[in-house]
Amino acid sequence: MQTLTVALGDRSYPIHIGGGLLTQPGLILPHLKIPQAAIVTNTTVGPLYLERVQNILLQNGIKVLPIVLPDGEAYKNSESLKQIYDALLTHRMERKATLIALGGGVIGDLTGFAAATYLRGVPFIQIPTTLLAQVDSSVGGKTGINHPLGKNMIGAFYQPQLVLADTDTLNTLPDRELSAGLAEVIKYGLIRDLPFLAWLEANMDKLLARDPAALAYAIHRSCQNKADVVAADERESGNRALLNLGHTFGHAIEAGMGYGAWLHGEAVGTGMIMAAELSHRLGWLSDADVARARALILKAGLPALAPDLGFDKYLDLMGLDKKVEAGKIRFVLLKALGHAVLSADVPTEALKETIAASVAHG
Ligand code: NAD
Ligand code: GLY
Repeated sequence: MQTLTVALGDRSYPIHIGGGLLTQPGLILPHLKIPQAAIVTNTTVGPLYLERVQNILLQNGIKVLPIVLPDGEAYKNSESLKQIYDALLTHRMERKATLIALGGGVIGDLTGFAAATYLRGVPFIQIPTTLLAQVDSSVGGKTGINHPLGKNMIGAFYQPQLVLADTDTLNTLPDRELSAGLAEVIKYGLIRDLPFLAWLEANMDKLLARDPAALAYAIHRSCQNKADVVAADERESGNRALLNLGHTFGHAIEAGMGYGAWLHGEAVGTGMIMAAELSHRLGWLSDADVARARALILKAGLPALAPDLGFDKYLDLMGLDKKVEAGKIRFVLLKALGHAVLSADVPTEALKETIAASVAHG
């Protein structure tokens, strides 16, 4: 097991990464303030891992309330949130009870927001079971739900007490979901870690074959990058926004196609190719740089072409991005591979050309 720390003063917390962690009671129990916990999961992850986590708690005298939600991005909404509140209130879960998120980013974001708001805030633990959640969403305290008008539009910054990334859970993850997680892994290389980008180029085959050592290394390195960024800018007043490379285009794809049609990681992967294209049009990346980024993203099994929503729809959807300031869309772009910047200074023509060059014409 490897352990990292997200350094946030008295709200600092550990990220444990390794195999077999779900069955180690010593990792979770010290973080529970009273012997009460609710485990939030879904209809896919529940049958695979709920019993394991639940048993460890029950065997140690913890009262456990399982809450099983329907599976899917389409359920990351106020209805699911209400379902969590209803269960917590019905079972009189107290203010010191812990909410445990067992699942991917959808469950993690939902549970975190429920924890931030139930009784004005209860402790929570992240047990991420997708690659995407282990390298990104479980770390850093962004929690929330989607709104029909925009992705992740309602939420709160609220840090967990602990992140427990059991890499064994990735053995049951579908290939498409593994690729989606690799998009966020590649993101760290593109925005701030060029040596990691080179490592990913050399090791992508191993990652796709789920080589345990390669996966553990990629998760650790990704979490280290994320922990460093979050520790320096927890509430995104500056550089944390760079973690959104590909997300302005990606969120437009997700919302425009209907939540769940494109996986979040797929939309981010294609969005990063679009961001690289746009950076090239602004004179920052060379042809070879764009080709290098595209090749790695495609090698990870992610889609090459964006859906043809039409320029106006892209613009409309991107205008709802949380990074918009004074009505201007701010894009995360690449000055060079491994060096991301935030820019509001994007000529409409360059944006139009980028979208036209990136879409699949039906
Ligand atoms: P997800 O939570 O929908 O999980 C993907 C699928 O895999 C689901 O069907 C899930 O049930 C299934 N699954 C989960 N673990 C499994 C396992 N071990 N074996 C088999 N199946 C398993 O999607 P995701 O990619 O994990 O997360 C995407 C979400 O995360 C999006 O809503 C995105 O906005 C959010 N996100 C949040 C942050 C953040 O900082 N909070 C960062 C990135 C993404
Ligand atoms: N996934 C972007 C962030 O956590 O800031």
